[in-house]
Amino acid sequence: MEGLCTILLISLVGLALTQGNAVLDDGDKQALLDFVNSFPHSRDLDWDVNSAVCNNWTGVTCSQDESRVLSLRLPGVGFHGRIPANTLSRLTALQILSLRSNGITGPFPSDLYDLKNLTYLYLQFNKFSGPLPANFSVWKNLTIVNLSNNGFNGSIPKGISNLTLLSTLNLANNSLSGVIPDLHLPNLQQLNLSNNNLTGILPKSLQSFPKSVFSGNSISLPYSPIPGPPGVLSFHQPNSKPKNAGRLSESALLGIIIAGCVLGVIGLAFLLLVWCLRRRDNLRYASNVQFDHGEVEISVWIEKYCLGTEMQSDIGMHILAFLLHLIRRRVSDQTA
Ligand SMILES: *[C@@H]1O[C@H](CO)[C@@H](O)[C@H](O)[C@H]1NC(C)=O
Ligand SMILES: *[C@@H]1O[C@H](CO)[C@@H](O)[C@H](O)[C@H]1NC(C)=O
Ligand SMILES: *[C@@H]1O[C@H](CO)[C@@H](O)[C@H](O)[C@H]1NC(C)=O
Ligand SMILES: *[C@@H]1O[C@H](CO)[C@@H](O)[C@H](O)[C@H]1NC(C)=O
Ligand SMILES: *[C@@H]1O[C@H](CO)[C@@H](O)[C@H](O)[C@H]1NC(C)=O
Ligand SMILES: *[C@@H]1O[C@H](CO)[C@@H](O)[C@H](O)[C@H]1NC(C)=O
Ligand SMILES: *[C@@H]1O[C@H](CO)[C@@H](O)[C@H](O)[C@H]1NC(C)=O
Ligand SMILES: *[C@@H]1O[C@H](CO)[C@@H](O)[C@H](O)[C@H]1NC(C)=O
Ligand SMILES: *[C@@H]1O[C@H](CO)[C@@H](O)[C@H](O)[C@H]1NC(C)=O
Ligand SMILES: *[C@@H]1O[C@H](CO)[C@@H](O)[C@H](O)[C@H]1NC(C)=O
Repeated sequence: MEGLCTILLISLVGLALTQGNAVLDDGDKQALLDFVNSFPHSRDLDWDVNSAVCNNWTGVTCSQDESRVLSLRLPGVGFHGRIPANTLSRLTALQILSLRSNGITGPFPSDLYDLKNLTYLYLQFNKFSGPLPANFSVWKNLTIVNLSNNGFNGSIPKGISNLTLLSTLNLANNSLSGVIPDLHLPNLQQLNLSNNNLTGILPKSLQSFPKSVFSGNSISLPYSPIPGPPGVLSFHQPNSKPKNAGRLSESALLGIIIAGCVLGVIGLAFLLLVWCLRRRDNLRYASNVQFDHGEVEISVWIEKYCLGTEMQSDIGMHILAFLLHLIRRRVSDQTA
C-alpha cells in the first residue's frame, strides 16, 4: 500500500513538472526526421537527433510551449525529387511551410491536405507540375499562397474562392490555362497571374488589380471585342469612371429629364413674359391697355406685340401660344 502511494506521488510530481515545459511531440520530431532523411538535398541541415528540436534545428519553429512544430522553413536547401509521402502530413499543427527555391518535382504535395492549420505556403521556384488542388476548403486559414515559378498546369480552380482569408496569391510563371474564374476573395490584396497561358475575359472581381498582374496571358477585359494575340495583354483602356458608379434606374432618369424640361419651359415662359412687359413699358405701346381689367388685356397685348411682331423662335411661339391658351381658358371660365 505504501509503495503504491509513493509511486502515485512521484507520477503526480512528474506530471506537474512536464506541464510547465512540455516536450515536443515525438510524432513531430520523427516526421521531420523521416522527411529530411528520405528527401535528397545538397546542403547539410545540421539536425542533431540528440539536440532540442525547437531550439536547435535549422528552419524549425515550435509553439510557445514547445509541444508542436508550427513552422518549417527550408528555402534553397537543394531538395530534389518528390516530397516523400506521409511525412509532412504528420506535422498537423504546421502553420508556415516554406520550401521555396529548391528543385522539387512532382505534383502538388498531397501531404499538405492534412495540414488544416496551414496559413502561409511558399513553394515558389521549384519544378512542381500538374494541376493545382481542386478543393481548397481544407485550409480555412490559408492567407498567403506563393506557387509562382513552377510548372503547374491546368486551370485555376474555382475552389480558391473558398479561401476567405486569402490576402496574397502568386501563381505567376506557371503553365496555367483556361479562363480565370470569378474569385470572390474579400481579403485579396496581392495577386500575380502573369506569364501563364490564361485566356478569356477578366472577371469583374479582379478588375481593380494592375494590368501587370495579368501580363503574359491572352486575357481581355469585358466589353473588349477583340481578344489579343497570345502572350500579349489586350486591354482596352478602361473607363476612368466605374460603369456602375451612381447608376440611376431608367425611370428615375426619365422623371428627372421631364421635370427639368417642364421647369425650363416654365422659366423660359416667365422670362419671355417679363421681357415682353418691359418692352411694352419701354415703347409705351400699351398706354391704352388696362391691366386692371385682368387677363384679357394681357392676352391681347401678348398676341399683338409679342407674337405678331417680335417673336421669331418657334419654341417661343409655342410657349406663348400655350400661355395664351391658358389665359383665354381662365377668362372664359370667369366670364362663363
Ligand atoms: C545546438 O547545436 C549546436 C551545434 O549545431 C551545439 O553545439 C549545441 O550544443 C546545441 N544546443 C543544444 C541546446 O542542443
Ligand atoms: C490549429 O490551431 C489552433 C490554434 O490556432 C489550435 O487550437 C488547434 O489545435 C490547431 N490544430 C491542430 C490540428 O493542431
Ligand atoms: C485558424 O485560426 C483560428 C484563429 O487563429 C483558430 O482558432 C483555428 O483553430 C485555426 N484553424 C482552423 C482549421 O480553423
Ligand atoms: C472539399 O473538401 C471539403 C472538406 O474536406 C468537403 O466537405 C467538400 O465536399 C469538398 N468539396 C469538393 C467540391 O470536393
Ligand atoms: C512570391 O514569390 C515571388 C517570386 O519569388 C516573389 O517575387 C514574391 O515576393 C513572393 N510573394 C510573397 C508574398 O511572398
Ligand atoms: C499538364 O502537364 C502534364 C505533363 O506534365 C500533361 O500530361 C497534362 O496533359 C497537362 N495538363 C493540361 C491540362 O495541360
Ligand atoms: C467551398 O466550400 C463549400 C463548403 O464550405 C463546399 O460545399 C464547396 O464544394 C467548396 N467549393 C469548392 C469548389 O471546393
Ligand atoms: C517570372 O519570370 C520572369 C522571367 O524569368 C521574371 O523576370 C519575373 O520576375 C517572374 N515573375 C515572378 C512574379 O516571379
Ligand atoms: C502556352 O501557349 C503557347 C501559345 O499558345 C504554347 O506555345 C505553349 O506551348 C503553351 N504552354 C503550355 C505549357 O501549355
Ligand atoms: C507580376 O509579375 C510580373 C512578372 O512576372 C511583374 O512584371 C509585375 O510587376 C508583377 N505585378 C505585381 C502587381 O506584382
